Amino acid sequence: MATITVAGPVERTIEAQPGISLLRALQDAGSPIATSCGGVATCALCRVTVTHGREHLTPLVDTEINHLGTIAKIVGLRLACQAKLTGTGDVRVEVPEVEDVAARKAAKAARLRQRR
Ligand code: FES
Repeated sequence: MATITVAGPVERTIEAQPGISLLRALQDAGSPIATSCGGVATCALCRVTVTHGREHLTPLVDTEINHLGTIAKIVGLRLACQAKLTGTGDVRVEVPEVEDVAARKAAKAARLRQRR
């Protein structure tokens, strides 16, 4: 098993099988991560920053460079759907906060109703 630590205000550690993507591991563990393409590398919403353990992931692919730019390799940006665990090492990632669109729309609707 590999270990993925999700950094943030509430740090979380996930165990995952080698060979699966970071996206799948995070989703399977119920950890929020944005996606609209379902993991086929077209939306780029699943970008994460790998701060530790890059060597335990598959190498960057051209699709990721196209979405993230050449700086990705330097700063550790990855598309979580393309980065797969290669072994049993520890990986640490920063995952952007996922916006709750439904809650935002509900709050906006409530504000508009109050104005009327
Ligand atoms: S999930 Fe859409 S690019 Fe990764």
